[in-house]
Amino acid sequence: MFNQKHTEYFKSHETPFYFYDTQLLKETLSALKKSIPENYIIHYALKANPHPTILKLIKHAGLGADCVSGNEVKRALECGFKNTEIVFAGVGKSDKEINFAIDQSIFCFNVESLQELMVINELAKQKNCITNIAIRINPSVDAYTHKYITTGLEENKFGINPHEFNNLIELLKTLKHIKFKGLHFHIGSQIQNLSAFKELCTRVNEINQWFIQKELEAEHLNLGGGLGINYKEPDNEAIVNFEKYFFVFKTFLKHLPHQKIHFELGRSIVASCGSLISRVLYLKKGINTDFLILDAGMTELLRPALYQAYHKIENISKLNDPIEKKYDVVGPICESSDCFGKSVELPETDRGDLIAIRSAGAYGEVMSSRYNLRDQIDSVFMD
Ligand code: LLP
Repeated sequence: MFNQKHTEYFKSHETPFYFYDTQLLKETLSALKKSIPENYIIHYALKANPHPTILKLIKHAGLGADCVSGNEVKRALECGFKNTEIVFAGVGKSDKEINFAIDQSIFCFNVESLQELMVINELAKQKNCITNIAIRINPSVDAYTHKYITTGLEENKFGINPHEFNNLIELLKTLKHIKFKGLHFHIGSQIQNLSAFKELCTRVNEINQWFIQKELEAEHLNLGGGLGINYKEPDNEAIVNFEKYFFVFKTFLKHLPHQKIHFELGRSIVASCGSLISRVLYLKKGINTDFLILDAGMTELLRPALYQAYHKIENISKLNDPIEKKYDVVGPICESSDCFGKSVELPETDRGDLIAIRSAGAYGEVMSSRYNLRDQIDSVFMD
């Protein structure tokens, strides 16, 4: 929630920049910690926001790390995460990345194909060591979310499909330089309909049982991430209801008493605490609309252009003015998709006003680019 204090503080900063409310992040982390059931372990998905200041707060709260590249593994280690708290997923890990992670003795690789399993085994063999792996399984569960962030359907490239299970079992039993530790699942992101997680539990129960029958007992089950946030009303639900989320798993997941349950949450931890702060460069009359042209664009926040994602837009220079106008809010980039929102309801707005694009703490700054040779986006933290 922005107030006059913020606008005063922002006046001295060159726009655009990412603003992070570290107090809200701390509150989110403490709400998360309070709601984590015993036996459940949370890894923070670095891909959502790997800023060192954010990572250090998350590390301090006692979470582990979920990485999808060698550089993310490196960043996690630099920010204080222990090697034994790091999982490494991704369909296309390079030999260089695998070698690096083996050398760091990370907790576990989440392996996404049979060939990758053989490559990890071979690279571990060359180092004369045994590497912990979990198998990422494609559970074929619909997450009811945007098609670009759905990952658990048969048509998606992620995980190993059941038709390969027999070959998989054979490999797991014969390869000598890998150690089977767990089963990993992730069905997608920005999931608000919790029944998708209930369905996931049902599939995990079946698959876990099937592996147990094949004498491959997973020490841990990793249910991935994906919990969605309220983009429409960021101030009404600044912290997601983690309790409700974990309750689904507590209720529907059937596992052996000693099996540990892992999660990889990203968005639900960091999305709310970040906003993109921009300034109005120009107002322009269109045929049927008024344009607000900002100094931030799709290069700073790609989500609206890529997923038609909604982010709440506020004029924080006119916090107390009545909302009486509609604008198409666009960026300066030479692409028609460079639009943050159409017919956005705002107060009468002027050149120079500060605009906040809310809930941008996850998949915002990290997905920014230098397209059009834009400046590297800056970040500002405030407690
Ligand atoms: N685990 C795995 C294997 C994942 O692929 C992801 C996200 C996560 C965990 C964390 O999911 P979360 O809790 O953040 O939903 N750029 C997109 C989101 C891509 C998500 C990719 N995977 C966006 O801006 O919506």
